[in-house]
Amino acid sequence: MFNLDSFLKAKAGLVDSFLESYFSGARVFPARFKEAMAYSLNAGGKRIRPVLALAACEACGRDPATILPYACALELIHTYSLIHDDLPAMDDDDLRRGKPTNHKVYGEAMAILAGDGLLTEAFHILSLPAGGIDPILLLKVIGDVSERAGLRGMVAGQAQDILSESGADLPRADLPADMEETIGFIHMHKTAQLITASVRMGAILAGADEGRLAALTEYGQSVGMAFQVADDILDVKGETALMGKTAGSDQRKAKLTYPAVYGLEASERKARELVDSALLALKAFDEKAEPLRAIARFVIERKA
Ligand code: IPE
Ligand code: IPE
Ligand code: MG
Ligand code: MG
Ligand code: MG
Repeated sequence: MFNLDSFLKAKAGLVDSFLESYFSGARVFPARFKEAMAYSLNAGGKRIRPVLALAACEACGRDPATILPYACALELIHTYSLIHDDLPAMDDDDLRRGKPTNHKVYGEAMAILAGDGLLTEAFHILSLPAGGIDPILLLKVIGDVSERAGLRGMVAGQAQDILSESGADLPRADLPADMEETIGFIHMHKTAQLITASVRMGAILAGADEGRLAALTEYGQSVGMAFQVADDILDVKGETALMGKTAGSDQRKAKLTYPAVYGLEASERKARELVDSALLALKAFDEKAEPLRAIARFVIERKA
C-alpha cells in the first residue's frame, strides 16, 4: 500500500539535504546576504513543487534522483516568491514557515536582494549539466519554467493579485470587468503555473511523449488551482500554529479570494472538483503515478 506520508518525508528530505549542502558550500559574499537567503530556504516548507517534479519523473519511468538539482531549483524560485510576497509593499506578513518573515529579520532591502539572488541562482542551477540529462531537454525546461514563473506566469498573477485588493491605491481601469474571470486569472497565474512547470519538468526530463506531457500539464493546472483555492480556505479556517503563517491575512488585505467571491462551501466544492479533474487527467497512467494521485488528494486535505 502506497503511503503518502512516508513518500513526502523521504522526498522532502532529499530536497532539504540538497539545498542545505548547496548553500553551505557556496562562496557567497557578503555573509549576511547569504544568511538571508539560507534563512528562508532552510526554514522548512512542504517542498511540494520539487516533490511534484520528482513524482512526475517517476510516473514517466525515470529515476527521480537524477533530476534532484533541477527539482530543487523550483524551490529557490518558490522561496523567492514567498519572501517578496510577504514584503510590506505586498501582503505585509510577519510570519512564514513558522518564523519571522525575511524582511522582519534582515530588513526590506536585504529581503528584496535575497529574493533576487534565489531567483537568479535557480536558473544557474538549471544551466548545470547533471545526471546524464540531454541538454536539449534541459533547454526546454528552462524555457518552460521561465515562461510559467515570469511575466506571463506567476509574476503576472502576483501583479493582478495586488491590483485586485479592494482599496488598492492603483489604477483599476485594466481590471477585467468580470470578477470570476479575474480570480481565475490570479490563481492560475500566481500559483498554478509554477506547479504546472514543476510537474512538466519531471515529465520533460524523463523524456515523456507529447500525449503524456499534455495529460500531466492538465494535472498540474488542476492541482495548482486546487492548491491555491485550498490556501484561500486555510486563510479563513486554518490555524496559524499549524500553517506557520498568520491566518486571516487575506481578509485584512481585502484580497480577491475564492471564499470572498464564492463563499466557503462553494470554494470547498470547487477544490474537490479540481482534484477530480486532476485524477481524471492521469487515467492513462499506471501505478507509478500513485504518488501524483495521492498528492492531488492531499492538496485539499492539508492543514498547512
Ligand atoms: C504558499 O505555498 C504560497 C502559495 C503559492 C499558496 P506553500 O503552501 O507551498 O508554502 P511552503 O513552501 O510549504 O511554505
Ligand atoms: C502567494 O499567494 C502566491 C505566491 C507567492 C506566488 P498568497 O499570498 O496567498 O500566499 P500566502 O498565503 O502568503 O502563502
Ligand atoms: Mg500574496
Ligand atoms: Mg501572501
Ligand atoms: Mg494565501
